[in-house]
Amino acid sequence: MNLKITCIPGDGIGPEIVAEAKKVLDAVAEKYGHDMQYTDILMGGASIDVHGVPLTEEAVETAKSADAVLMGSIGGDTTTSLWYKLPPNLRPEAGLLGIRKALNLFANLRPAVLYEELAGACPLKEEISVAGFDMMIMRELTGGLYFGERKTVEENGVRKAIDTLTYDENEIRRIAIKGFDIARKRRKKVTSVDKANVLDSSRLWRSVVEEVAMDYPDVTLEHMLVDNCAMQLVKDPAQFDVILTENMFGDILSDEASMVTGSIGMLASASLNDTKFGLYEPSHGSAPDIAGKDIANPIATILSASMMLRYSFDLDREADAIDAAVKQVLQDGFRTGDIMSEGCKQVGCKRMGDLIVERIK
Ligand code: IPM
Ligand code: MG
Repeated sequence: MNLKITCIPGDGIGPEIVAEAKKVLDAVAEKYGHDMQYTDILMGGASIDVHGVPLTEEAVETAKSADAVLMGSIGGDTTTSLWYKLPPNLRPEAGLLGIRKALNLFANLRPAVLYEELAGACPLKEEISVAGFDMMIMRELTGGLYFGERKTVEENGVRKAIDTLTYDENEIRRIAIKGFDIARKRRKKVTSVDKANVLDSSRLWRSVVEEVAMDYPDVTLEHMLVDNCAMQLVKDPAQFDVILTENMFGDILSDEASMVTGSIGMLASASLNDTKFGLYEPSHGSAPDIAGKDIANPIATILSASMMLRYSFDLDREADAIDAAVKQVLQDGFRTGDIMSEGCKQVGCKRMGDLIVERIK
């Protein structure tokens, strides 16, 4: 296949980890006879430094013309970086929100998996972690509080801020359909998470999800309140297969779920629209404190590249090859600093990329 991939190296450790993912993609392309062409665009702080804005129209057009987008990470230290002296709509994160909206990436898939080889890093008690877990958080990504009207005003000398949480039934239906489709390929259970005991948007969420569920009689649906879900994730994570939820709840729960795995440096993600197009990025951030030191863990980005092959290009065999190479490297005892444990061999970012490439060839 001829594949056109737009890359967003971004900020912090972004450029280093994207470079390793490209290396791995090239190895796969060579082995299975594909041609991958990469075009880099700037986003986040890197774009602010050059263009004064976190995302340009031109960058969006480049991304749109590609078959898929592979991203590293964006953003800097929010207390020290000059980027955070800018108005909110010009900060690095606005670039990420902008591209999600511009590309209509409404479905965010964030797998949280306890890797057997890294089970020791799980912060839960062994009696809980022994069951293992493998869940997919499906987060709605272009609606809700993130994109509702917002303003800060002053009324009678009192400052007041307003954020609006809006969902229409179509926005709920399309993410619910994706969630059920994915559950069908997994263990056929959807936990829809809301706050229906308080919020109207959640009550609509619940009823639309129930309508969609009628078309999936083979998938079990349960509803869970978001506060309870936060507890259940640490009490009994094995109960979850697909967690389907709105934007803000998904932001929070996906961080919690990734922490529970103990290895956020391993977790990939995909953001999809209603075609095969998607943006793929690690679940972790830009880690500015370790940028440029060749110690970042590139595995989450490499696994994001694998998700890209699987979800955007239907190249399951190639994706399996990457996943297997990552597993093999862990079994062989290699670790970056963030997942290091006694008896293993610590390696840097580039070396980790090389070791994975060697296991693909
Ligand atoms: C994420 C991040 C973003 C979000 C930030 C950087 C705007 O936390 O991808 O989860 O809140 O969506
Ligand atoms: Mg987040």
